[in-house]
Amino acid sequence: MAQAHGSDSLVVIDHVNKHYGELHVLKDITTTVARGEVVVVIGPSGSGKSTLCRAINRLETIDDGTITIDGVQLPEEGPGLAKLRADVGMVFQSFNLFAHKTVLENVTLGPIKVRGLSKKDADARGMKLLNRVGVGNQAQKMPSQLSGGQQQRVAIARTLAMEPKLILLDEPTSALDPEMINEVLDVMVDLAKDGMTMLVVTHEMGFARKAANRVLFMAEGSIVEEAAPEQFFTNPQTPRAKDFLSKILTH
Ligand SMILES: Nc1ncnc2c1ncn2[C@@H]1O[C@H](COP(=O)(O)OP(=O)(O)OP(=O)(O)O)[C@@H](O)[C@H]1O
Ligand SMILES: [Mg+2]
Repeated sequence: MAQAHGSDSLVVIDHVNKHYGELHVLKDITTTVARGEVVVVIGPSGSGKSTLCRAINRLETIDDGTITIDGVQLPEEGPGLAKLRADVGMVFQSFNLFAHKTVLENVTLGPIKVRGLSKKDADARGMKLLNRVGVGNQAQKMPSQLSGGQQQRVAIARTLAMEPKLILLDEPTSALDPEMINEVLDVMVDLAKDGMTMLVVTHEMGFARKAANRVLFMAEGSIVEEAAPEQFFTNPQTPRAKDFLSKILTH
């Protein structure tokens, strides 16, 4: 964990708690994500992984503790919040593309509206990003004309177009047919190699092994283990992690 506590922490999560009514969904979560680090979050259903992601870009409020991004504590409301959301990209399981806009328009809308780019510059940058994720030839189509894997790569390009400091990906491949998973994972591995800071909820161990600096194992709202991927997958320390891995490894 030493690298994550260096002076160049991009995300600092400090003693964060959250409840949904009686349910204590995040229990005293403390961790950091260093600039350029790739953290994979893994854990059973209901352990709080999505809630943690959503708290980091303030789609969910927290009860106590603090979350700081690049030295700025998450604001409650107001223009600071919009700025923060623009700095923290999020890619969901469901691609959430705008159905009535072309693929290219999906990627240029944010940069034009939020970042103030001209249409010409946004188009040029958008095409570059679509090519980077391998769907440049789909730019003028509507999202529904693309496969799930292609749509998810467009969603990643759309996020990149905002030049975020950090990208949160919440099970980005779990809604995809098996043959499309790798094309999305390959894009994510490339991003990781490029130095993008990423927090990825996924059970894709191939990705974790190839691209993650650290695996964070959650159960029942707590971080139960934090380790390098190889160490976590080959030598989990806690019974809960061992039990979880034995279940996902037998798939
Ligand atoms: N809006 C909500 N209101 C009440 N309870 C919620 C809400 N969202 C999530 N929960 C509960 O909080 C707990 C954590 O949910 P969360 O979605 O963060 O889990 P997860 O680890 O992402 O699970 P999964 O692997 O199934 O996606 C679950 O028990 C869930 O039922
Ligand atoms: Mg989830």
